[in-house]
Amino acid sequence: MASRKRELGVFAHLNGEWAPAGLVTMLEDGSKIQGSQFAYGRRYIGRPDALPIVPTEIGEWKPNPDMMRDKEFIADEVTKLFGSIRDAAPDAWGRRVIESRLNQPANSLPESTYLMEAGHNRAGALDIRPDIQSPPLKTAGVHRLEYLLEAAARIEEGLPVPTGLQDIFEAGSGMGGMRPKASVTDAAGHLWLAKFPSLNERLNIPILETATLRLAKEAGLAVPDVRTECIQDKTIMMIRRFDREYSANDKEHRRHMISALTLLGCHESESPDKTYGDIADAIRRHGAPKQVRADQAEMYGRMIFNILVTNDDDHLRNHAFLWRPEGWSLSPLYDVVPRPSIGTERRLHLGVGNSGRSATIDNALTSYARFGLDLERAWEIIDRVYGVVRQWRTYFEAYNVPLSEIEKIASAFRHIDDVCTREARRQNR
Ligand SMILES: Nc1ncnc2c1ncn2[C@@H]1O[C@H](COP(=O)(O)OP(=O)(O)OP(=O)(O)O)[C@@H](O)[C@H]1O
Ligand SMILES: [Mg+2]
Repeated sequence: MASRKRELGVFAHLNGEWAPAGLVTMLEDGSKIQGSQFAYGRRYIGRPDALPIVPTEIGEWKPNPDMMRDKEFIADEVTKLFGSIRDAAPDAWGRRVIESRLNQPANSLPESTYLMEAGHNRAGALDIRPDIQSPPLKTAGVHRLEYLLEAAARIEEGLPVPTGLQDIFEAGSGMGGMRPKASVTDAAGHLWLAKFPSLNERLNIPILETATLRLAKEAGLAVPDVRTECIQDKTIMMIRRFDREYSANDKEHRRHMISALTLLGCHESESPDKTYGDIADAIRRHGAPKQVRADQAEMYGRMIFNILVTNDDDHLRNHAFLWRPEGWSLSPLYDVVPRPSIGTERRLHLGVGNSGRSATIDNALTSYARFGLDLERAWEIIDRVYGVVRQWRTYFEAYNVPLSEIEKIASAFRHIDDVCTREARRQNR
């Protein structure tokens, strides 16, 4: 198939309104992206509130009109697309929804199509449209969960979605991740993400993910509002969208968001070679200065939590950053699910310390300095997080997690003796 060049308009949500930000030119061969370029609009870079869409040639994200003007930024050889633009399209689930609407097979469409079809509820504060004059998509808002649940199940099964259930095409196209989900508004018009049960699952993941996020909040980590909804015999997890904020009159302000994949400048396939320490370094380099210490400590706490609950799906799309005028700051926590396991030696997806991805506190105690911590502060965080996680059963019972689910998930939770040697603990005075 011959390569095709496609030019798309990139818009940024500034102070509650869409503004044209620039043009992205993509070279594609069918579903394969071969390269892309981006140029900012002249008027856009003059705005004091302009959001950075690509880092400058020296790798800085801070908008710098001198480095943004009259320049064709070229995406690197490996990623082929600018990370923040890639993050404006779904990577998995939303693609299934788009394909269902367009009646096309999985992963068969060009990246530019996924970018344009991700819709009104897409992640973050960027929008991608056929050209720089295109108006934004209109949205119907509010969606009935029972219809979305049924429609999502049909999409998962590869069945067509009947007319009465097609709300999913708007509500479900925006977000990535593997699991079925949709964005819905509450009575005030504020956006939430609904995560549905997936077909043929042994565990009640929506209940367990909600309980785990609440446990993380008890352990002092930053967690969005979460709750469950029950529809017939199904549980749905509802999590507040942290990339949306609302002013007093309920006007929506979108927050510019990128994945850690983008902050680290890498391609999906490079994720397993990266470490929590790499994220801590990126926070030091690109973080809002006043936020760096707190974000690095929070990142360390999340790594400890993931070790203690065996959340080994901690890849670089499961960490995100939100833009502030001073730099990037860590987003609240999301997508944390304990994985029951029989093995005593467990690994996370990202590297933890000198022993690679090995999920132990000993390993985490080799890397605290990269997070701007000293030994005492590292232990404070470990003690705080373990102090809560060790009581997980009590918390889960209080959250009304059924006993059968508690038993099925129990082996995911680690006892300190399983993940920390006596020698390491002796350092904790
Ligand atoms: N509360 C939230 N607010 C805004 N964006 C969110 C929120 N929760 C998740 N996201 C975004 O949606 C994407 C998919 O969500 P999530 O990771 O929870 O789904 P998942 O299907 O469980 O993912 P995975 O395939 O990693 O298991 C995330 O990568 C993130 O970009
Ligand atoms: Mg995820």
